[in-house]
Amino acid sequence: MYIHLESALFLYFFVQLCSPAQVRITFEKCDLKGFTCVASPEVSGRHDITFQCTNVTGQDIQFYLWAFSAPGTIQSLTLHNCEKVQLSLTCSGDNRPIQWVKFKNIGSLEWLPPNVPHNPPKMIFENISRIEILPRQTFAQIKKIFYKPGCYLPAFDLNALEFRNVNFGTIESGAFDNLSDMTNFEWTNVTVSRIAYAAMKMQFVQGGKGSISNSNLGVLEPMALQFVGDGLSIKNNKIEDLSPSSINGTVYDFEFVNNTVDNLQSSAIAVLSQNTYINNNHFRNVESGAFKKVSPGLLHDSQRNFGTLYFVYDFNNNLFEHVEDKGIRPDIEAYKNVASLVNFTENTLQCSCETISWLGAEVDLGFNYTVLKDFNTMILDPKNKNNCNFNPCMCFGVRSPNKRSSATAAVF
Ligand SMILES: *[C@@H]1O[C@H](CO)[C@@H](O)[C@H](O)[C@H]1NC(C)=O
Ligand SMILES: *[C@@H]1O[C@H](CO)[C@@H](O)[C@H](O)[C@H]1NC(C)=O
Ligand SMILES: *[C@@H]1O[C@H](CO)[C@@H](O)[C@H](O)[C@H]1NC(C)=O
Ligand SMILES: *[C@@H]1O[C@H](CO)[C@@H](O)[C@H](O)[C@H]1NC(C)=O
Ligand SMILES: *[C@@H]1O[C@H](CO)[C@@H](O)[C@H](O)[C@H]1NC(C)=O
Ligand SMILES: *[C@@H]1O[C@H](CO)[C@@H](O)[C@H](O)[C@H]1NC(C)=O
Ligand SMILES: *[C@@H]1O[C@H](CO)[C@@H](O)[C@H](O)[C@H]1NC(C)=O
Ligand SMILES: *[C@@H]1O[C@H](CO)[C@@H](O)[C@H](O)[C@H]1NC(C)=O
Repeated sequence: MYIHLESALFLYFFVQLCSPAQVRITFEKCDLKGFTCVASPEVSGRHDITFQCTNVTGQDIQFYLWAFSAPGTIQSLTLHNCEKVQLSLTCSGDNRPIQWVKFKNIGSLEWLPPNVPHNPPKMIFENISRIEILPRQTFAQIKKIFYKPGCYLPAFDLNALEFRNVNFGTIESGAFDNLSDMTNFEWTNVTVSRIAYAAMKMQFVQGGKGSISNSNLGVLEPMALQFVGDGLSIKNNKIEDLSPSSINGTVYDFEFVNNTVDNLQSSAIAVLSQNTYINNNHFRNVESGAFKKVSPGLLHDSQRNFGTLYFVYDFNNNLFEHVEDKGIRPDIEAYKNVASLVNFTENTLQCSCETISWLGAEVDLGFNYTVLKDFNTMILDPKNKNNCNFNPCMCFGVRSPNKRSSATAAVF
């Protein structure tokens, strides 16, 4: 009997030593064991609850958002200063009115597989050193999940996501699982190695917007980002590789500004929009047809008068290091067919196979020659200040004519 107890104790400590203890956090009362509570400035009678890891021994924690004995008056939860957090968003029958959660200053964050995920309306992630994998259905709306036995159904579903200073490994397919009625999506200073096929799909309410800025994006697989909404802004980012349709969407205002892109594959940016702004970017390698799926399109099937509706394609101040033939054209035929302003000015093409067709020597069969000629004439018009360097470059085994290659940089 005594022996048995001793070996049981030995086994207990042995297990404790081998796998670092993960403490599952539960709430007992305010100002105890890491929890603090303050009155919510948003709703009277409610409380903003904060849990701080550094107050408790052991910083390696498990947190079950819908089962940590939260007080019934909880308005928000902030969890911060932790080394490692395993998070479970599995729904419960509990009716806890959490409106937003914030995760801040966390070394590593990991999601425990949920049976049915329940995300609160707003989630904020700030200064998270590592999220190795963002699995399928991490961000899902519980209303859209078909089978959810025993889950409490909230009045307000997930609609806002903000990430600042966050470092991801892989964002898996369906991680942002066809979210609708979104009001806000924001990425600032986010690093991510890979965004898998169809990983992020979001539809916004009228006035809702998405933005990705000051971030480092690695490889974006096809359909990686799918947005439908009033605005999408992609600004001040470094991007390694954009696959076909990796930025796909219908947006009223589409802004792709001040980015550095290493490789832009054919049809990489597939966006229907009323106003497109592609300005101040540095493109290292641009494949043929990279912008051909940027077309005029309408977000709202409006009753607006087409006679006065105007589409804008504004493409200025971009630098191309290497661009294949047909690499710089948007869907110019479509722009020709609607009332539009196509502005293509002050771009620099350091090495361009496009030169072949600019000079009319070789014209694509099947393409509308007049439209193409107009587009090329516009590029070459001196008042548009595009800077074209007719350096030779290889595209599909065709070298541009010798007499061009001997020409020095030409400024029109
Ligand atoms: C947690 O630690 C911070 C600073 O170390 C302190 O201000 C706060 O009162 C502590 N809270 C609790 C509940 O112990
Ligand atoms: C960010 O979080 C890490 C990990 O918790 C922490 O060491 C670091 O001090 C935080 N940085 C800032 C600026 O808060
Ligand atoms: C961006 O995030 C990294 C951590 O991923 C951090 O070290 C850096 O200070 C952040 N930069 C800014 C400008 O906040
Ligand atoms: C995505 O959500 C929209 C709107 O709720 C719905 O109409 C559509 O069928 C969904 N698509 C998929 C693939 O689940
Ligand atoms: C464009 O990006 C550079 C760094 O890549 C930055 O220094 C500059 O402020 C940005 N410009 C704007 C208008 O945001
Ligand atoms: C975006 O993807 C959808 C499929 O979900 C596809 O039907 C559509 O053509 C793509 N958009 C563009 C502009 O290519
Ligand atoms: C075209 O873009 C240039 C540079 O941004 C701008 O100065 C000019 O006003 C634009 N032209 C029109 C007609 O919008
Ligand atoms: C080419 O475009 C012009 C002007 O938009 C149009 O009149 C003509 O029919 C088009 N030709 C073909 C072959 O599509």
